[in-house]
Amino acid sequence: AEVKKIAVIAGDGIGPEVVAEAEKVLKRTEELFGYRFETEHALFGGIAIDEKGTPLPQETLEVCQNADAVLLGAVGGPKWDSNPAELRPETGLLGIRKALGLFSNLRPAVVFDCLKDASTLKPEVLEGTDLIVVRELTGGIYFGEKYRRETENGQQAVDTCAYTVNEVERIVRQAFEIAQKRRKKLASVDKANVLESSRLWREVVIRVAADYPDVELEHVLVDNCAMQLLRRPSSFDVIVTENMFGDILSDEAAMLTGSIGMLSSASLGAGSFGLYEPVHGSAPDIAGQNLANPIATILSVALMLRMTFGYADAADSIEKAVAEVLDAGHRTSDIAVDKSSAIGTIAMGDLIVATMK
Ligand code: NAD
Ligand code: IPM
Ligand code: MN
Repeated sequence: AEVKKIAVIAGDGIGPEVVAEAEKVLKRTEELFGYRFETEHALFGGIAIDEKGTPLPQETLEVCQNADAVLLGAVGGPKWDSNPAELRPETGLLGIRKALGLFSNLRPAVVFDCLKDASTLKPEVLEGTDLIVVRELTGGIYFGEKYRRETENGQQAVDTCAYTVNEVERIVRQAFEIAQKRRKKLASVDKANVLESSRLWREVVIRVAADYPDVELEHVLVDNCAMQLLRRPSSFDVIVTENMFGDILSDEAAMLTGSIGMLSSASLGAGSFGLYEPVHGSAPDIAGQNLANPIATILSVALMLRMTFGYADAADSIEKAVAEVLDAGHRTSDIAVDKSSAIGTIAMGDLIVATMK
């Protein structure tokens, strides 16, 4: 098989721990299916601030730009929390998404049957939940003008939420296309009763919807959506929303699956290139203790194999192995009901590798 280049940026906290397990899984697909991957590791986030003086060194960006896909762990931690914006790990994350043109972030939340007891919600509410959040990733309040100024009432801080028609249209079209390949239901989430950017968002959705008459569309205000996600999660299929709403709603959706440690993501642009990362962060509270659930990152590798490389057999193999290991009752502590029987990060990775076929 053709050699595919993967940039690996493990980052901070539990990032290196979960990425190490994901790399083992990637290696196993080479043995099982004959695929060939060349990985190149690069510094990113807090560790890059410490070693290079910037969260996103130019050479790291180049490693990513020269690769076919990027596997990312997580960044951030208390050590860098009082740094100015340009010396924050999170700024590097926004920078890499923007520089690589990754405007579309797909975050599937699927409830594994055997994990219904791991969630804080009632099993009968979770039954059949299988949704995907399509989050706009390079616009909105994350990227609008931000500044501080002195006013007669003291210092003021400003963040601007801005969207162009084009930025909305490209993500909305992607969401409609994803819905067409699923259960053909799209919920567009906004705050059009208050925000001008949301009113533009809704106008674009309504216009674009005419091209996808087979998709059933609902507009849901974000506050109501946050509530409905807990009330009737299984009724959602595809949720499309702006950057910050998508950030918040996807962490909420994670709890449907039992843990944020289960949620994978794909960040895509116009072509097949993609960046794949778990939805969770660097989890400083459990870092370095072999406690992190590696499944979110392992499932992100499956997304990479499927979406960037078209290696459906390898992606299926990973997803089936994860389901089988969970079915057999193996749990990291975040998804364990009986915490005393929980296994560690490395054991979970090893079990998944051993189960792949
Ligand atoms: P977090 O997602 O890191 O952790 C939230 C909670 O979930 C913690 O209790 C943590 O222990 C738990 N958790 C997260 N991932 C887990 C896993 N794989 N297995 C088991 N438990 C897991 O969010 P936070 O605490 O708000 O943020 C910590 C740092 O991570 C901050 O610096 C934040 O900016 C950063 N962050 C980075 C990313 C990213 O790199 N994509 C995403 C979110 C947060
Ligand atoms: C995520 C994270 C990031 C975001 C932060 C760390 C910048 O929370 O990937 O969900 O808000 O996009
Ligand atoms: Mn987030």
